[in-house]
Amino acid sequence: MLPFLFDAMAYKRPHLKKLGEIVRAHGSGRPDLALLARELGAVVHRHSLALADELDALRRAERFERWRLGAHRGEGAEVLIMVWPPNHATPVHDHAGLWGLEMALYGALSVENWQRGPDGSLRAGGRQWLGPGDACWFEDAASGLHRCRNLSRQACALSLHVYGGRLEHYLAYAPTPQAAWRTRRQRARVIGQLA
Ligand SMILES: [Fe+2]
Repeated sequence: MLPFLFDAMAYKRPHLKKLGEIVRAHGSGRPDLALLARELGAVVHRHSLALADELDALRRAERFERWRLGAHRGEGAEVLIMVWPPNHATPVHDHAGLWGLEMALYGALSVENWQRGPDGSLRAGGRQWLGPGDACWFEDAASGLHRCRNLSRQACALSLHVYGGRLEHYLAYAPTPQAAWRTRRQRARVIGQLA
């Protein structure tokens, strides 16, 4: 029953399914992230309206959500869809040392990059704006610190995330009045599976 159900969902979401297939075609090791971004971006640019339709139900979410795209069988990349309510912003966060690629699918996100200094302090180091099909990526823990925000005050945004393994926990950082940073371990809760 369940495999039939998943197949039926994939049939209704062919472009979303295609994004998962592109990631899996790169194998279980770390892919060339620039090439992966170009291949995924080509599908998103060409089919952005169809993708928005396929994800129509998610665009009504009232809170930040993570959905898994396809099954993760314990090895290789994990692919997630994230739903951003209007103006939603993350704290500065890491990605548990995994490599990663993050791409806007619908709406626009800002990505503020952060770096850790030799004394362990954090400082902002540049910003990117991602529209549908635009991506940022990081190769390791040192380059994987950032803070993201949905730039719309009225509409949800959607994004695609590819990580080099299952992201179960990550660290979030918040400044304190004493100028130090408080670190909190967060669970990367996934709502369910798509396609
Ligand atoms: Fe992130």
